Amino acid sequence: MTGITGIKEAARLLQSGSCVAVPTETVYGLAANALNESAVRDIFTIKGRPLIDPLIVHLLDLSAAKALTELDQEQQKALELVANQCWPGALTLVLPKAPQVPDLVTANRDSVAIRCPAHPLMRQVLEESGLFLAAPSANPFGYVSPTTADHVARNLGDRCPYILDGGQCEAGVESTILDLRDPKEPIILRPGPVGREELQRVLDRPVLDMKSGPQSDVSVAPGQLERHYSPRKHLSLHPVGELPKPNGTTAQIFLARPKDHLMPGQTYWLSEQGNLSEVAHNLFALLHKIDAQGEVEAIQCEIPEAGGIADAIRDRLSRASKR
Ligand code: TXA
Ligand code: MG
Repeated sequence: MTGITGIKEAARLLQSGSCVAVPTETVYGLAANALNESAVRDIFTIKGRPLIDPLIVHLLDLSAAKALTELDQEQQKALELVANQCWPGALTLVLPKAPQVPDLVTANRDSVAIRCPAHPLMRQVLEESGLFLAAPSANPFGYVSPTTADHVARNLGDRCPYILDGGQCEAGVESTILDLRDPKEPIILRPGPVGREELQRVLDRPVLDMKSGPQSDVSVAPGQLERHYSPRKHLSLHPVGELPKPNGTTAQIFLARPKDHLMPGQTYWLSEQGNLSEVAHNLFALLHKIDAQGEVEAIQCEIPEAGGIADAIRDRLSRASKR
């Protein structure tokens, strides 16, 4: 359901302790009242997600962020700097949590992940409900994240009480996660639409990547499993211009539109001109589409060079290709 009726119904269900699938500018989320433990438990059950993987809490603004965190002066300054320049948007911050955040949400950590989303429907649901909303991506655990209401309906189906349809998500990949617990050494735990270069400019200091950081460790970034975001079909990755010769049961994904369309098998491209934001926007939707095609046995996909949004695309593709 869309429009004002949909928002009111979503808010009412959330207030009564139900889960609701909601659109955001990154991917669809499966939301519940973050301060209601039984509602939060349902998120884990519906997704089949292990309880050790903490959730992101969505909120409306900086003052809500302060209510859920307990910060020293340096952390407070860093939060204000980043929030004022990057929120609302596709950036999640990890900071020390306030006691009111249930341990179930943070998987017993002393930190909480918070994000102020930009999608107008999601913001209206936050406003109308007056709640903090815990929301992971609205996919079965380990599968490709949903970027349309239809992806949610097909993959969570009747396990999800209500889906608010907000059209196709703009960014198409999940938010960047930035660990700001030590503001002197901010670390990107998951690359996303807000790139490292932008964060370095905003914070005016070097920002590390999880992999290059001092704590490259799943205990810091619990959800960053080797294998994740995976289609059911076998996925292999290839440098641009190096896709192997296809056969009739292989789907091939180019980043930009190939010059020669008369190739056997199935040919797809993520962007006419190879624009990487467009590639990210279309990536999960195309994987959902090809994964649903009975005649396709394997998917071959080009992978972009690193840098900016390409870091997020490379991260999702490489996890999706792991068996
Ligand atoms: O774009 C997004 O972030 C979407 C939309 C719905 O907002 N949400 C999303 O949630 O991608 P999810 O649960 O699929 O991914 C959240 C990631 C997980 O890898 C989780 O482990 C990590 O955030 N996370 C949550 N709390 C954390 C914490 N306190 N410390 C470190 N990582 C945390
Ligand atoms: Mg997810």
